[in-house]
Amino acid sequence: MKISSHTVAGMVGRWQEGPGPAHRRLSDRLRLLVLDGRLCLGAALPGERDLAAALGTSRTTVGTAYRTLVEHGYLTTRSRARATVRLPGGPRPERRAGARAQTLDLSLAAPQAPVEILHAAFASALEQLPRHFERHGYDRYGTGELREAVARWYGRRGLPTPPGHIMITNGAQHALALLARTMLSPRDKVVIDHPTYPHAIKTFLDVRARLLPVAVTPSGWDGAQLCAAASTAHLAYLIPDFHNPTGMSMPTGMRRRLGLACPTVVDETMADLVLDGAAQEPFAVHMPTAISIGSVSKSIWGGLRIGWIRAAPSLLERVVQARPATDLGTPVVEQLATAVLLNEDRTRRPEALCRLREQRDALGQALAAHLPHVRAPQPSGGMTLWATFPEPVASRLAAIAPDHGVTIAAGPRFGIGGAFERNVRLPYALPPDRLALAVRRLARAEAALTRGATGTHTPAPLA
Ligand SMILES: Cc1ncc(COP(=O)(O)O)c(C=O)c1O
Repeated sequence: MKISSHTVAGMVGRWQEGPGPAHRRLSDRLRLLVLDGRLCLGAALPGERDLAAALGTSRTTVGTAYRTLVEHGYLTTRSRARATVRLPGGPRPERRAGARAQTLDLSLAAPQAPVEILHAAFASALEQLPRHFERHGYDRYGTGELREAVARWYGRRGLPTPPGHIMITNGAQHALALLARTMLSPRDKVVIDHPTYPHAIKTFLDVRARLLPVAVTPSGWDGAQLCAAASTAHLAYLIPDFHNPTGMSMPTGMRRRLGLACPTVVDETMADLVLDGAAQEPFAVHMPTAISIGSVSKSIWGGLRIGWIRAAPSLLERVVQARPATDLGTPVVEQLATAVLLNEDRTRRPEALCRLREQRDALGQALAAHLPHVRAPQPSGGMTLWATFPEPVASRLAAIAPDHGVTIAAGPRFGIGGAFERNVRLPYALPPDRLALAVRRLARAEAALTRGATGTHTPAPLA
């Protein structure tokens, strides 16, 4: 696949900023795009002259950056052909023996498993399982038990829901991918929060949709801009609470006023992680046409791989028609166990929320102590905070941080066009002492960066 010079220029964003020679900044940016999957394997990059013109730089800068990437195994070149993206083979020299085990992972926003509660739920699920042996086990809408349990879960939150409006999926990401495939055609426009959840960006780009980013700033969502963007769009995807990555919650007044002209998918994966104040009602209370997606991945455990879509049966029927192209249903035991957990109201466990609150506060305190120049507003829920550095260091910091024993997710992964180079998403999913240690390591990585060090690490997987 050929990639145009303008596309690459958009992806590298503000690469001119930062210390070091221009060719190194450019090759670092391109390498991170390859490692992130934003420049996919086999993609043919534009010629040096074209890219130099699109970037407003010299051909020598682009040529030197390309040569560096070739030397490090990220590009191949053949005479008279475009440079093609590849990945270096063989072992990575930077992974010292034992380093992986000691590295603290600040890239994943995933809760610890509530072991005893899960054991009990699976024991109960196994007792119920024989009931299902009479049937084939392929159920594209999900088991009746879980659809009813999810419907009751909405009902307890103030949104009466018939089980026929629920479809069970293998997590919220699967729900979103199914909706994107069902509802979008190539070149359709999709409104997204900016920043937003990276796998949502990937999902929409995979169906060749065009993204209309609407900024979510420290003061929140801009209702007028959302409405304006939605007036020309085919779909809007919002994370009203708790927003990933900022942890913000859309105010009730805005939910009431926000009548978007296009179908609106709201991702409420983090909605049960209420740390301060009262919980919001589900978004569809205010916008009855909203298509809601949910999951137990953050409120109970990601390994359950259970999520759902709440929508009108006519849309669910279309989704069910599209589903067999990728999967034929969700495992029955996991569904039965999740039904037990939802019926026992285990998604808002006071002790788990109390622990999360302590972790959030510990992370805030560690940042204030070791990275006082970093702005990190305290989120009222969810499990991540959105830190802003004074300089555009995020990608380089993410590349060097594993050398100092910590992995992080750089801001540009949460946006398009190279935005958010001053931001890093920091989850507070680790115990307080681990979080404090991780922040001390991050501060050391930042100091090394200031001294001119560079890193070569692959971005960690995200959740
Ligand atoms: C906003 C958002 N949506 C969806 C997902 C994916 O959830 P699941 O694990 O249920 O697929 C995540 C996971 O981090 C998320 O943060």
